Amino acid sequence: MKPVVFKFDPEFTHDVFTWIGEMSGRIGIVKWAMRKLFVYENEIISQDVLGVKYKNPVGLAGGFDKDAKLTQVLGSVGFGFNEIGAVTAKAYGGNAKPRLKRYIKTKSIWVNYGLKNKGAKAVHEDLKKMLDAGRKFEIPLWINVAKTNCSATADQAYAVEDYSETVRVFSDMVDVFVINISCPNTFGGQPFHKPEQLEALLSGLDKVKTETSFKQPYFLKLSPELSEAALDSILKICDQHQVDGLVISNLSKKKNMERMHESERVGVPEHGSLSGKYVEPDSDRVLEYVGRKVKKGECKKYVIVGVGGIFTAEDAYKKIRFGASLVELITGMIFEGPQVMSEINEGLAELLKKDGFKHISEAVGVDL
Ligand SMILES: Cc1cc2nc3c(=O)[nH]c(=O)nc-3n(C[C@H](O)[C@H](O)[C@H](O)COP(=O)(O)O)c2cc1C
Repeated sequence: MKPVVFKFDPEFTHDVFTWIGEMSGRIGIVKWAMRKLFVYENEIISQDVLGVKYKNPVGLAGGFDKDAKLTQVLGSVGFGFNEIGAVTAKAYGGNAKPRLKRYIKTKSIWVNYGLKNKGAKAVHEDLKKMLDAGRKFEIPLWINVAKTNCSATADQAYAVEDYSETVRVFSDMVDVFVINISCPNTFGGQPFHKPEQLEALLSGLDKVKTETSFKQPYFLKLSPELSEAALDSILKICDQHQVDGLVISNLSKKKNMERMHESERVGVPEHGSLSGKYVEPDSDRVLEYVGRKVKKGECKKYVIVGVGGIFTAEDAYKKIRFGASLVELITGMIFEGPQVMSEINEGLAELLKKDGFKHISEAVGVDL
């Protein structure tokens, strides 16, 4: 199907596939057939992470299921967990179109959505209605929380409250909060990487946790472009707050034409960001650096989630050996198709066995 599907505009294709996924999730027999086709299960890759059970380590990264339409179907196509969002406190229609472009030979997607979503309360209400109707989440549900893309959230105190509001709204529903401090396509850039601002945000989020007394962990999502000094300072701040995990990494904002296939170097927009194989080297660099610090005990024992350029079991395995307990993807699924999750899971089980591991947890960080 790929040659035909890739003739259509990427955002249109995404919307059509989201609709098909949403409809399929409502029909039991379709889900059963999908499970038969797509799901690979094996104890060697199932694990308990911070009290949540994952049948496999491969999740859908934040940004694909923006308005949480796919919670009923992703388990049936082989995902181990689903990160909805980014969700922001207020709804936002997104940046001007076009905001997606495929770079097929580079195996990357150019993204300039700008945090389009229905807003926290509306997304929560849709999910609540679904649960009230007797449906369940089949796989762990994560939420990617960002600040509303508007000029008001360029103000630090306003932005902290904006993040906090979304966390409050979803505190009765999700398993993990991914705090997205690295969205590159928003008003005011990426302010929460700076130490004083990150300190203010994490203090605000600690307060929400105390006020509402929920137990779900906060994971922080990092940019792939952080220097070692910036990472040291971020980890030092996280150590003082209730952060339990790190998602490494977001999209790449910097444009380096040498990373693009030679036939795709002309016309790459200066704004927007790139995913897939383009971001993989930087994601891996940050992952390896942070993984090493965690392993050496130079910071808290964070759960690490590896994301960026995963297309195969070997790609996922490399991130696990660099310290990731879980991995996520979007671009790999778009380019390779919905069977890729089970291929990765089956391949991971084989790679682990080949290397003499009895369980995935034994391989986490072995290359550091
Ligand atoms: C279409 C698209 C939309 C995205 N939107 C978000 C988002 O809203 N929040 C976020 O944290 N990351 C977002 N990302 C980044 C992904 O979650 C992921 O970090 C990045 O794409 C690298 O993974 P990949 O190479 O498997 O795509 C988006 C990526 C894509 C391709």
